[in-house]
Amino acid sequence: MSIDRMAVVGGGTMGNGIAHVFALSGREVIIVDLKQEVLDESLSTIEANLTRQEKKDRISTNEKDAALDRIRTSTDIADGVAEVDLVVEAVSETMDVKASVFQELDEHAPDHAILASNTSSISITALAAETDRPEQIIGMHFFNPVPVMRLVEIVRGLVTSDDIYETVEALAEHLGKTPVEVEDYPGFVSNRILMPMINEAIFCVMEGVASVEDIDTVMKLGMNHPMGPLTLADFIGLDVCLNIMEVLHNELGDDKYRPCPLLRRMVVAGKLGRKTGAGFYDYE
Ligand code: 3HC
Repeated sequence: MSIDRMAVVGGGTMGNGIAHVFALSGREVIIVDLKQEVLDESLSTIEANLTRQEKKDRISTNEKDAALDRIRTSTDIADGVAEVDLVVEAVSETMDVKASVFQELDEHAPDHAILASNTSSISITALAAETDRPEQIIGMHFFNPVPVMRLVEIVRGLVTSDDIYETVEALAEHLGKTPVEVEDYPGFVSNRILMPMINEAIFCVMEGVASVEDIDTVMKLGMNHPMGPLTLADFIGLDVCLNIMEVLHNELGDDKYRPCPLLRRMVVAGKLGRKTGAGFYDYE
C-alpha cells in the first residue's frame, strides 16, 4: 500500500516535526489542530527548521520550498483526514483526549487508512479498541527533534496486522529513519529505559549527591550522552517525564518506577523546563 497523503493531528512540537519529515519525503501533509494559532506557529517552526537545514546544506532551496508547498492546515478533523492514507496522531498524552481523537479518525478517515499514534506511554491496544479497525492501528513513536533523531519505535498493538506493520516499517525507512519493532508494553523500550534514568538523576539532586550541572557533566563526559539527564528532562518537559513515570509505576506495579518527589514538586510549581522558561535550569 502506498502512502501518498497523510495527516498529522496535533500541531505541537512533535506534530510539526512529524509533518516536516513527511513533507520533505515528498508526501502531501495536512496538519490538523483545533486552534488556528497553533497551526500558524507550527508552520513557522517548520519553515525555520527547514531553513536551518538549508543553511547547513542538508537540503536545497528547491527541496525546502517544495516541502512547504506540500503542507496544508485545517481546524476541522473531518475535512483534514477525509482523503488520506495515513494519520499520525500527536495530541496531548491523555487517554480521554486520544480516545476521542481515535473515535473521530475512525469515523472520518477512509476505510483503508492506517491510524498511527505518536504516543510515548499510552497503550496502542487500548487506542485500537476505540475503533472498528483495530488491526490498522499502530504506534509510530518519533523523538524530539524529529528532523534530527533517526529512531522510530514502531509499536505493534495486540491485533495490529503484519501487513500494516510492514507498510509502516517501509515508510519509516523511506523517511530516512531507523525503525525498531517493539511490543505494546508500558513505555515501550525508549521510555522504559530513559525515564527511570532521568528520575534517578532527579533523586540525586533531591538527596544532594551533586549539583544539577555536575550530574549532567557526569553523564555527558562519562557516558558520552549528548545532553545530561536534567537538561534532557527540561527539553522533554517535566510534566511529560512525570506522566510517563506514573504510567510505568501504575501499569508495571513495581516501586522501582516511583516518581521522585522533587519531580512532582517541580511540576506542581509549574517549573516544567524549557517550555515554561524554568526547570532544572533557567531559560529566561
Ligand atoms: N530541525 C532541524 N534540524 C535541527 C533541529 C530541528 N528542530 N534541531 C537541531 N537541528 C540540527 C542542527 O541544525 C544541526 O545540524 P548539523 O548536524 O547539520 O550541523 C544538528 O541538528 C545539531 O544541532 P546543534 O548543532 O544546534 O546542537 P547540538 O549539536 O547540541 O544538538 C540535539 C542538539 C540534536 C538536540 C542534541 O543535543 C541531542 O541529540 N540531544 C538529545 C535529544 C534526545 O535525547 N531526544 C529524545 C528525547 S525523548 C523523546 O523525544 C521521546 C518522548 O517520548 C519523551
